[in-house]
Amino acid sequence: KKIAVLMGGRSAEREISLRTGKAVLGALQGAGYRAVAIDAGRDLAARLTAEEVEVAFIALHGRYGEDGTVQGMLEMMDIPYTGSGVMASSVAMDKVATKKLLLYHELPTPGFLPFFRGGDLEALVQDCRHFPLVVKPAREGSTIGVHIVQDAEGLRRGVAEALEHDDLLLVEDYIRGMEITVGVLDDQALPIIQVAPKGGFYDFHAKYTAGQTEYILPALLDAQVYGRIQEAAVSACRILGCRGAARVDFMVREREFYCLEVNTIPGMTETSLLPKAAAHAGISFGELTLRILEGAGL
Ligand code: DAL
Ligand code: MG
Repeated sequence: KKIAVLMGGRSAEREISLRTGKAVLGALQGAGYRAVAIDAGRDLAARLTAEEVEVAFIALHGRYGEDGTVQGMLEMMDIPYTGSGVMASSVAMDKVATKKLLLYHELPTPGFLPFFRGGDLEALVQDCRHFPLVVKPAREGSTIGVHIVQDAEGLRRGVAEALEHDDLLLVEDYIRGMEITVGVLDDQALPIIQVAPKGGFYDFHAKYTAGQTEYILPALLDAQVYGRIQEAAVSACRILGCRGAARVDFMVREREFYCLEVNTIPGMTETSLLPKAAAHAGISFGELTLRILEGAGL
């Protein structure tokens, strides 16, 4: 079968996606598959048709790729694809929608307020009495546009800056504690990774620059808490209806944990977390790629 690795695309995470895509393409070709790279631009449908693509391996992050749009197009074209379907993808892309669903299912997530462009900023400031807070674009990845704010003035500025990335934001309680992530592969949790960015904030730079973050694998957690978090990660994926691979991010404070978000197309770059967790579980990068490919239901 002819596989297209969809990469690049139109999101702010384009460069990261190109790195993920290149690694995936290498793994597929190394395993003897007929695979080509396709940059997912506006002409994607025409490209897929011209190349007679039979399966799509989606290596896109962020908007127009991880958010259900490309998945919907592939459904219409009858091309099987890797990862989550349309609804899980679009819900997981939106942190506000995700958190509402998690709360409905009683999975802990930090307290938050949504904020829409054009909303009453001063009313929001009035409602935010406890700092620090985290301002996030609702539908962005790789910490792009995320600001930790310490006071009302910082909040106003953070909101203005986050609005450059999205029309919908969330202002979330900052959980002082340990940041961890749990890969989930075919409904099974992988070993938990603790991230300890050298600069304190696991931002874009700390995520993608080698040596900027220390990774502790498995995370230094009490065994019972460790197990509960792995269960919560699997539950979060089930609640959203994810398929294939996903990665669920949490903050942990003492024995309490809070789900931040679910990534339906986790990064597969050299510094990315899902491949590290898989390797610790004895699953090589090549095997991980093939497991995700099998998820397309071939
Ligand atoms: N959004 C990035 C690619 C990740 O979750 O790994
Ligand atoms: Mg994310």
